[in-house]
Amino acid sequence: MSWKDNIIKQLGKLNPRLLASLEKGMKAIPGVSQKIDDEYAEIMVELESSAKPYKNKFTTFTKIPDTGRPHADILREMESMRVQEESHWKDGFVSGAVYHGDQEHIDFLNQVYAINSQSNPLHADVWPSATKFEAEIVAMTGNMLGGAGQDVCGTLSSGGTESIMLAMKTYRDWAREKKGITKPEMIVPITAHAAFDKASQYFNIKTIHIPVDENFRANVEAARKAITSNTIVIVGSAPSFPHGAIDPIEELSELARQNNIGFHVDACLGGFVLPWAEKLGYPVPPFDFRLPGVTSMSVDTHKYGYAAKGTSVILYRGKELRHFQYYTTTEWPGGLYFSPTFAGSRPGALSAACWAAMTAIGAEGYLSATKKILETAAIIKQGVRDIPKLRVLGEPLFVVAFASESINVYKVLDYMSHKKWSLNGLHKPTCVHICVTLRHTQPGVAERFIADLKEAVEHVKAHPEEKGTMAPVYGLAATLPLRGMVSDLLKKYLDVIFKA
Ligand SMILES: Cc1ncc(COP(=O)(O)O)c(C=O)c1O
Repeated sequence: MSWKDNIIKQLGKLNPRLLASLEKGMKAIPGVSQKIDDEYAEIMVELESSAKPYKNKFTTFTKIPDTGRPHADILREMESMRVQEESHWKDGFVSGAVYHGDQEHIDFLNQVYAINSQSNPLHADVWPSATKFEAEIVAMTGNMLGGAGQDVCGTLSSGGTESIMLAMKTYRDWAREKKGITKPEMIVPITAHAAFDKASQYFNIKTIHIPVDENFRANVEAARKAITSNTIVIVGSAPSFPHGAIDPIEELSELARQNNIGFHVDACLGGFVLPWAEKLGYPVPPFDFRLPGVTSMSVDTHKYGYAAKGTSVILYRGKELRHFQYYTTTEWPGGLYFSPTFAGSRPGALSAACWAAMTAIGAEGYLSATKKILETAAIIKQGVRDIPKLRVLGEPLFVVAFASESINVYKVLDYMSHKKWSLNGLHKPTCVHICVTLRHTQPGVAERFIADLKEAVEHVKAHPEEKGTMAPVYGLAATLPLRGMVSDLLKKYLDVIFKA
């Protein structure tokens, strides 16, 4: 069971009336708060045991050991954890998460990491190799995304979330200096990644959410109506995380261009798939710098770029915009200081591994990987469509979300998790998705998925009386006004994660 499923399961144990009263601000009433804390404490015990499976297996360190441990012991323990965890994702049971995962590729990246493990791009004078790798990653990515011959530039970041947050901060600062906007607003489709909301919270930018159509693509008319004199940027996804839908990027980018506001394409998921899909003849609408209104893009090398985890690229149209991302100070006693992203010191070895992955795979490698993924996704899509009770949402290329009008799809998710599958349960609307990666292109994996899914649907149909583990809770989360309650629980869960 995933951490998310477990939280939702635990949430289901709470008394619904208590939850509802909580939402109405009853927490302040004496006795209520205590009751809630008691209920939380019980939940946390169970969450902790699922989040810490190694607690009784290996020594727990809460202080540095007096004498150092033998390397062999440490390596043996880590090996044992790897063995415990690896087959799940390696055999293709997990949606997204590991996008390549072939042993030869992993070994190669590990070798590259070992060579560069001390490298830190903050010290460009000491590690000019890191500078070379990062500049070239940005150039290659920009080139792949229609930037050739245009003033497209960028930086490396630690992942999709950082790329998105950097871009939003950049627009905030750009709009303040260039347009005097002090109450910035961003127009964001409801299906855009949560990182935009995170940016909104961190940088005090108001989010104006716009709805999506029946195919889960952003509503352009709603975006037009949402524009005000405070709008700094419009966002589109290519494609979105929940349903794999590509927003109407061309129309949205034109809208932004006509109004002299920024337009950000979140291609974290699709940036390394869509260019190759287009070459393979799949119906890919324009989504990159070939559109004049596109002013920035987030593109994850650590997803379908097949780099190790910890890198992403943020691209801008024009160096002027990129300057608003940078941090510089001339006042610090520590000397002149400047850094391109949120971090100071950064892992140069990850940049090296990213550069190595891109240059080792090459255009031919990306093309053939994309072909395999899209063919597998097509088998999965058709397989889902052939199951009478299920319906594929929209017209996705490689993220297949499915829903049902007649059975509880969360019960299907439950059954699938008992068959080892880690799929994503989504809501608004109720559905489940699988993000197809190279792991699913291994012989027999797509067929196993469809066979298990059929079995799951048959089971749910034949046993309507069964409640399922997660299903009632997903239902609860979808119907009760639980936002504050769920947030509280998520924060407590993060506390558990950092508890030794
Ligand atoms: C469309 C999209 N944008 C952004 C992100 C965030 O990426 P990360 O988890 O690397 O921060 C994701 C992650 O799945 C995504 O699918």
